[in-house]
Amino acid sequence: MRAPLNVPMEGLPERVTIYEVGPRDGLQNESAVVPVEVKAEFLTRLARAGLTTIEATSFVHPKWVPQLADAEELLARVERAPGVRYPVLVPNERGLDRALALGVTDIAIFGSATETFARRNLNRSVDGSIEMFAPVVARARESGLAVRAYLSMCFGDPWEGPVPIEQVVRNGARLLDLGCEQLSLGDTIGVGTPGHVAELLAAFGRAGVGPDRLAVHFHDTYGQALANTLAALRAGITVVDASAGGIGGCPYAKSATGNLATEDLVWMLSGLGVETGVDLESLVATSAWLAGELGRPSPSRVVQAMSKQEE
Ligand code: HMG
Ligand code: MG
Repeated sequence: MRAPLNVPMEGLPERVTIYEVGPRDGLQNESAVVPVEVKAEFLTRLARAGLTTIEATSFVHPKWVPQLADAEELLARVERAPGVRYPVLVPNERGLDRALALGVTDIAIFGSATETFARRNLNRSVDGSIEMFAPVVARARESGLAVRAYLSMCFGDPWEGPVPIEQVVRNGARLLDLGCEQLSLGDTIGVGTPGHVAELLAAFGRAGVGPDRLAVHFHDTYGQALANTLAALRAGITVVDASAGGIGGCPYAKSATGNLATEDLVWMLSGLGVETGVDLESLVATSAWLAGELGRPSPSRVVQAMSKQEE
Protein backbone atom coordinates (compact mmCIF):
# COMPACT_ATOMS: atom_id res chain seq x y z
CA MET A 1 0.00 0.00 0.00
CA ARG A 2 1.11 3.56 -0.67
CA ALA A 3 -1.01 5.29 1.99
CA PRO A 4 -3.03 4.34 5.07
CA LEU A 5 -6.81 4.63 5.21
CA ASN A 6 -7.80 7.95 6.77
CA VAL A 7 -9.59 7.22 10.06
CA PRO A 8 -9.42 10.14 12.51
CA MET A 9 -9.33 9.81 16.28
CA GLU A 10 -10.61 12.29 18.84
CA GLY A 11 -8.38 14.49 20.97
CA LEU A 12 -5.58 15.04 18.45
CA PRO A 13 -4.28 18.29 16.93
CA GLU A 14 -5.33 19.18 13.37
CA ARG A 15 -1.76 19.80 12.30
CA VAL A 16 1.69 18.72 13.50
CA THR A 17 4.98 20.43 12.72
CA ILE A 18 7.68 17.89 12.07
CA TYR A 19 11.09 19.06 13.24
CA GLU A 20 13.39 17.02 11.01
CA VAL A 21 16.68 16.06 12.69
CA GLY A 22 18.10 13.48 10.24
CA PRO A 23 20.91 15.65 8.85
CA ARG A 24 22.12 16.45 12.38
CA ASP A 25 21.06 13.70 14.83
CA GLY A 26 21.19 11.08 12.07
CA LEU A 27 24.43 11.91 10.35
CA GLN A 28 26.33 12.81 13.55
CA ASN A 29 26.30 9.13 14.35
CA GLU A 30 27.52 7.67 11.08
CA SER A 31 30.84 5.86 11.47
CA ALA A 32 32.02 7.09 8.07
CA VAL A 33 32.02 10.80 7.30
CA VAL A 34 29.33 11.50 4.71
CA PRO A 35 30.55 13.72 1.85
CA VAL A 36 29.36 17.32 2.11
CA GLU A 37 27.67 17.17 -1.30
CA VAL A 38 25.55 14.21 -0.14
CA LYS A 39 24.55 16.18 2.97
CA ALA A 40 23.62 19.19 0.83
CA GLU A 41 21.50 17.05 -1.46
CA PHE A 42 19.85 15.42 1.56
CA LEU A 43 18.82 18.88 2.84
CA THR A 44 17.50 19.88 -0.58
CA ARG A 45 15.48 16.68 -0.95
CA LEU A 46 13.99 17.01 2.55
CA ALA A 47 12.77 20.53 1.77
CA ARG A 48 11.32 19.29 -1.53
CA ALA A 49 9.44 16.57 0.36
CA GLY A 50 7.67 19.33 2.30
CA LEU A 51 9.63 19.49 5.56
CA THR A 52 9.74 23.08 6.79
CA THR A 53 12.07 22.75 9.78
CA ILE A 54 15.26 20.87 9.03
CA GLU A 55 18.06 20.79 11.61
CA ALA A 56 21.02 21.06 9.29
CA THR A 57 24.15 20.42 11.35
CA SER A 58 25.89 21.48 14.55
CA PHE A 59 28.58 23.97 15.49
CA VAL A 60 30.17 21.88 18.23
CA HIS A 61 33.85 21.11 18.69
CA PRO A 62 34.94 19.29 15.52
CA LYS A 63 37.00 16.83 17.57
CA TRP A 64 33.92 15.88 19.59
CA VAL A 65 31.78 15.25 16.50
CA PRO A 66 34.03 14.90 13.43
CA GLN A 67 31.02 13.76 11.35
CA LEU A 68 29.71 17.35 11.37
CA ALA A 69 33.05 19.17 11.15
CA ASP A 70 32.02 20.43 7.70
CA ALA A 71 29.22 22.64 9.10
CA GLU A 72 30.60 25.83 7.49
CA GLU A 73 31.12 24.21 4.14
CA LEU A 74 27.66 22.63 4.19
CA LEU A 75 25.79 25.84 5.02
CA ALA A 76 27.78 27.82 2.46
CA ARG A 77 26.92 25.24 -0.19
CA VAL A 78 23.28 24.43 0.46
CA GLU A 79 20.58 26.45 -1.24
CA ARG A 80 18.15 27.35 1.56
CA ALA A 81 14.59 26.88 0.31
CA PRO A 82 12.13 29.74 0.90
CA GLY A 83 9.88 29.22 3.92
CA VAL A 84 12.14 26.53 5.36
CA ARG A 85 14.03 26.98 8.65
CA TYR A 86 17.43 25.35 9.07
CA PRO A 87 18.28 25.33 12.79
CA VAL A 88 21.72 24.25 13.98
CA LEU A 89 23.01 22.96 17.31
CA VAL A 90 25.16 25.44 19.23
CA PRO A 91 26.66 24.61 22.65
CA ASN A 92 28.65 27.75 23.44
CA GLU A 93 29.65 31.23 22.31
CA ARG A 94 32.34 29.89 19.99
CA GLY A 95 29.64 27.85 18.25
CA LEU A 96 27.32 30.87 18.12
CA ASP A 97 30.02 33.01 16.47
CA ARG A 98 30.51 30.34 13.83
CA ALA A 99 26.74 30.07 13.22
CA LEU A 100 26.22 33.85 13.03
CA ALA A 101 29.01 34.15 10.47
CA LEU A 102 27.00 31.83 8.20
CA GLY A 103 23.74 33.80 8.55
CA VAL A 104 21.97 31.17 10.65
CA THR A 105 18.55 32.32 11.95
CA ASP A 106 17.61 29.43 14.27
CA ILE A 107 19.77 27.70 16.87
CA ALA A 108 19.31 25.01 19.49
CA ILE A 109 21.21 24.62 22.74
CA PHE A 110 21.25 21.16 24.31
CA GLY A 111 21.22 20.51 28.04
CA SER A 112 20.90 17.38 30.12
CA ALA A 113 18.47 16.23 32.78
CA THR A 114 21.30 14.27 34.43
CA GLU A 115 24.77 15.14 35.72
CA THR A 116 26.52 12.19 34.10
CA PHE A 117 25.33 12.96 30.60
CA ALA A 118 26.06 16.70 31.04
CA ARG A 119 29.66 15.79 31.80
CA ARG A 120 29.96 13.24 29.01
CA ASN A 121 28.28 15.34 26.33
CA LEU A 122 29.31 18.87 27.32
CA ASN A 123 32.31 18.36 29.60
CA ARG A 124 30.49 20.24 32.35
CA SER A 125 28.09 19.81 35.27
CA VAL A 126 24.43 20.73 34.75
CA ASP A 127 25.14 24.07 36.49
CA GLY A 128 28.25 24.60 34.37
CA SER A 129 26.32 23.93 31.18
CA ILE A 130 23.58 26.42 32.11
CA GLU A 131 26.36 28.98 32.68
CA MET A 132 27.76 28.14 29.25
CA PHE A 133 24.34 28.49 27.57
CA ALA A 134 23.24 31.76 29.24
CA PRO A 135 25.33 34.15 27.10
CA VAL A 136 24.59 32.07 23.99
CA VAL A 137 20.84 32.48 24.41
CA ALA A 138 21.12 36.17 25.40
CA ARG A 139 23.28 37.06 22.41
CA ALA A 140 21.24 34.94 20.01
CA ARG A 141 18.03 36.65 21.11
CA GLU A 142 19.66 40.09 20.79
CA SER A 143 20.56 39.15 17.22
CA GLY A 144 16.94 38.16 16.53
CA LEU A 145 17.53 34.40 16.34
CA ALA A 146 14.97 31.80 17.32
CA VAL A 147 16.32 29.61 20.12
CA ARG A 148 15.20 26.10 20.97
CA ALA A 149 16.53 24.03 23.88
CA TYR A 150 16.87 20.29 24.07
CA LEU A 151 16.86 18.37 27.30
CA SER A 152 18.43 14.92 27.07
CA MET A 153 17.86 11.82 29.22
CA CYS A 154 14.31 12.82 30.20
CA PHE A 155 13.12 9.21 30.54
CA GLY A 156 16.20 7.33 31.69
CA ASP A 157 19.97 7.55 31.64
CA PRO A 158 22.33 4.68 30.81
CA TRP A 159 24.62 5.53 33.73
CA GLU A 160 22.15 6.84 36.32
CA GLY A 161 19.09 4.69 35.53
CA PRO A 162 15.59 6.14 36.00
CA VAL A 163 15.47 9.94 36.12
CA PRO A 164 13.00 11.49 38.58
CA ILE A 165 10.29 13.53 36.84
CA GLU A 166 10.83 16.51 39.19
CA GLN A 167 14.51 16.61 38.18
CA VAL A 168 13.55 16.65 34.48
CA VAL A 169 11.03 19.46 34.99
CA ARG A 170 13.49 21.48 37.09
CA ASN A 171 16.31 21.25 34.56
CA GLY A 172 13.97 21.84 31.62
CA ALA A 173 12.52 24.96 33.25
CA ARG A 174 16.04 26.31 33.77
CA LEU A 175 16.66 26.10 30.02
CA LEU A 176 13.36 27.82 29.20
CA ASP A 177 14.11 30.51 31.79
CA LEU A 178 17.25 31.43 29.84
CA GLY A 179 14.89 32.73 27.14
CA CYS A 180 14.42 29.73 24.85
CA GLU A 181 11.14 29.59 22.98
CA GLN A 182 10.75 25.85 22.90
CA LEU A 183 11.99 22.89 24.92
CA SER A 184 12.35 19.54 23.20
CA LEU A 185 12.16 16.62 25.61
CA GLY A 186 14.68 13.99 24.57
CA ASP A 187 14.30 10.29 25.20
CA THR A 188 17.93 9.90 24.20
CA ILE A 189 18.05 6.14 24.77
CA GLY A 190 14.43 5.37 23.86
CA VAL A 191 13.34 3.78 27.13
CA GLY A 192 10.16 5.79 27.80
CA THR A 193 6.63 4.40 27.52
CA PRO A 194 3.34 6.25 26.87
CA GLY A 195 2.19 6.58 30.50
CA HIS A 196 5.57 8.05 31.41
CA VAL A 197 5.24 10.58 28.56
CA ALA A 198 1.78 11.63 29.74
CA GLU A 199 3.01 11.94 33.33
CA LEU A 200 6.05 14.03 32.37
CA LEU A 201 3.95 16.39 30.23
CA ALA A 202 1.41 16.73 33.04
CA ALA A 203 4.23 17.57 35.47
CA PHE A 204 5.48 20.30 33.12
CA GLY A 205 1.91 21.61 32.96
CA ARG A 206 1.72 21.78 36.76
CA ALA A 207 4.98 23.77 36.69
CA GLY A 208 3.40 26.29 34.31
CA VAL A 209 4.95 24.95 31.08
CA GLY A 210 2.18 24.03 28.65
CA PRO A 211 2.42 21.83 25.54
CA ASP A 212 2.65 24.94 23.31
CA ARG A 213 6.22 25.45 24.61
CA LEU A 214 7.26 21.80 24.37
CA ALA A 215 8.29 19.37 21.65
CA VAL A 216 9.11 15.66 21.88
CA HIS A 217 12.26 13.94 20.66
CA PHE A 218 12.01 10.17 20.78
CA HIS A 219 14.73 7.71 19.87
CA ASP A 220 13.29 4.35 18.86
CA THR A 221 15.75 2.07 20.66
CA TYR A 222 13.05 0.01 22.37
CA GLY A 223 10.40 0.44 19.65
CA GLN A 224 8.33 2.87 21.71
CA ALA A 225 8.76 6.08 19.73
CA LEU A 226 5.49 6.04 17.79
CA ALA A 227 3.37 5.00 20.78
CA ASN A 228 5.05 7.71 22.85
CA THR A 229 4.33 10.25 20.12
CA LEU A 230 0.64 9.39 20.13
CA ALA A 231 0.59 9.87 23.92
CA ALA A 232 2.28 13.26 23.48
CA LEU A 233 -0.22 14.36 20.80
CA ARG A 234 -3.09 13.44 23.06
CA ALA A 235 -1.52 15.70 25.70
CA GLY A 236 -1.50 18.66 23.27
CA ILE A 237 1.98 18.49 21.75
CA THR A 238 2.12 19.75 18.15
CA VAL A 239 5.87 19.71 17.41
CA VAL A 240 7.45 16.29 16.94
CA ASP A 241 11.12 15.59 16.17
CA ALA A 242 11.90 12.79 13.74
CA SER A 243 14.68 11.71 11.43
CA ALA A 244 14.18 10.70 7.80
CA GLY A 245 14.72 6.97 7.41
CA GLY A 246 15.09 6.58 11.20
CA ILE A 247 18.83 7.19 11.05
CA GLY A 248 20.65 8.43 14.11
CA GLY A 249 21.83 8.00 17.65
CA CYS A 250 24.16 9.91 19.90
CA PRO A 251 27.95 9.52 19.81
CA TYR A 252 28.07 10.16 23.57
CA ALA A 253 25.40 7.59 24.51
CA LYS A 254 26.13 4.24 22.86
CA SER A 255 22.75 2.85 23.90
CA ALA A 256 20.96 5.43 21.72
CA THR A 257 19.86 4.25 18.30
CA GLY A 258 17.99 6.10 15.57
CA ASN A 259 15.26 8.64 16.11
CA LEU A 260 11.61 8.03 15.37
CA ALA A 261 11.58 7.67 11.56
CA THR A 262 9.88 10.61 9.86
CA GLU A 263 8.17 8.23 7.41
CA ASP A 264 6.70 6.12 10.24
CA LEU A 265 5.40 9.31 11.85
CA VAL A 266 3.94 10.65 8.59
CA TRP A 267 2.20 7.31 7.90
CA MET A 268 0.52 7.36 11.31
CA LEU A 269 -0.44 11.05 11.13
CA SER A 270 -1.78 10.67 7.64
CA GLY A 271 -3.94 7.73 8.80
CA LEU A 272 -5.20 9.87 11.66
CA GLY A 273 -5.99 12.75 9.30
CA VAL A 274 -3.46 15.03 11.00
CA GLU A 275 -1.82 17.45 8.53
CA THR A 276 1.97 17.57 8.17
CA GLY A 277 2.48 19.01 4.70
CA VAL A 278 4.93 16.18 3.94
CA ASP A 279 4.80 14.14 0.73
CA LEU A 280 5.41 10.56 1.90
CA GLU A 281 6.43 9.15 -1.50
CA SER A 282 9.03 11.85 -1.96
CA LEU A 283 10.35 11.35 1.57
CA VAL A 284 10.61 7.56 1.16
CA ALA A 285 12.50 8.08 -2.10
CA THR A 286 14.89 10.42 -0.25
CA SER A 287 15.57 7.89 2.50
CA ALA A 288 15.99 5.05 -0.02
CA TRP A 289 18.51 7.23 -1.88
CA LEU A 290 20.35 8.08 1.38
CA ALA A 291 20.42 4.40 2.40
CA GLY A 292 22.24 3.73 -0.89
CA GLU A 293 24.74 6.48 -0.10
CA LEU A 294 25.27 5.16 3.46
CA GLY A 295 25.56 1.59 2.19
CA ARG A 296 22.90 0.03 4.42
CA PRO A 297 19.11 -0.25 4.52
CA SER A 298 16.98 2.33 6.31
CA PRO A 299 15.72 1.14 9.71
CA SER A 300 12.32 2.77 9.02
CA ARG A 301 9.54 0.18 8.71
CA VAL A 302 7.61 2.43 6.31
CA VAL A 303 10.64 2.98 4.08
CA GLN A 304 11.21 -0.79 4.01
CA ALA A 305 7.55 -1.59 3.30
CA MET A 306 7.11 1.04 0.62
CA SER A 307 10.36 0.06 -1.07
CA LYS A 308 9.18 -3.53 -1.60
CA GLN A 309 5.70 -3.34 -3.07
CA GLU A 310 3.93 -6.19 -4.86
CA GLU A 311 4.50 -6.17 -8.62
P1 HMG B 1 35.45 21.72 25.97
O1 HMG B 1 36.64 20.89 25.59
O2 HMG B 1 35.09 21.79 27.43
O3 HMG B 1 35.62 23.19 25.37
O4 HMG B 1 34.21 21.20 25.17
P2 HMG B 1 36.35 24.46 25.90
O5 HMG B 1 35.31 25.51 26.08
O6 HMG B 1 37.22 24.11 27.08
O7 HMG B 1 37.29 24.85 24.67
C1 HMG B 1 38.40 24.02 24.29
C2 HMG B 1 38.83 24.38 22.88
O8 HMG B 1 37.80 24.00 21.96
C3 HMG B 1 39.07 25.85 22.62
O9 HMG B 1 40.15 25.92 21.68
C4 HMG B 1 37.83 26.32 21.97
O10 HMG B 1 38.00 27.45 21.11
C5 HMG B 1 37.43 25.11 21.15
P3 HMG B 1 41.62 26.45 22.11
O11 HMG B 1 41.34 27.83 22.63
O12 HMG B 1 42.03 25.49 23.15
O13 HMG B 1 42.35 26.35 20.83
N1 HMG B 1 35.98 25.10 20.98
C6 HMG B 1 35.33 25.06 19.80
N2 HMG B 1 35.75 25.00 18.53
C7 HMG B 1 34.80 25.00 17.57
N3 HMG B 1 33.47 25.06 17.82
C8 HMG B 1 33.01 25.11 19.08
C9 HMG B 1 33.97 25.09 20.11
N4 HMG B 1 33.83 25.13 21.45
C10 HMG B 1 35.06 25.13 21.95
N5 HMG B 1 31.70 25.17 19.32
C11 HMG B 1 32.05 21.50 24.13
C12 HMG B 1 32.92 21.75 25.36
C13 HMG B 1 30.64 21.88 24.51
C14 HMG B 1 32.56 22.39 23.03
C15 HMG B 1 32.17 20.02 23.73
O14 HMG B 1 31.84 19.25 24.83
C16 HMG B 1 31.28 19.66 22.57
O15 HMG B 1 31.53 20.09 21.45
N6 HMG B 1 30.22 18.84 22.82
C17 HMG B 1 29.26 18.50 21.80
C18 HMG B 1 28.82 17.08 21.93
C19 HMG B 1 27.75 16.79 20.89
O16 HMG B 1 27.67 17.44 19.85
N7 HMG B 1 26.91 15.77 21.17
C20 HMG B 1 25.85 15.38 20.26
C21 HMG B 1 24.71 16.34 20.21
S1 HMG B 1 23.62 16.22 21.60
C22 HMG B 1 22.47 15.00 21.13
O17 HMG B 1 22.66 14.32 20.16
C23 HMG B 1 21.21 14.86 21.96
C24 HMG B 1 19.96 15.43 21.25
O18 HMG B 1 19.73 14.79 20.00
C25 HMG B 1 18.72 15.25 22.14
C26 HMG B 1 18.54 13.81 22.66
O19 HMG B 1 18.47 12.86 21.84
O20 HMG B 1 18.45 13.67 23.88
C27 HMG B 1 20.11 16.95 20.98
MG1 MG C 1 18.71 12.90 19.73
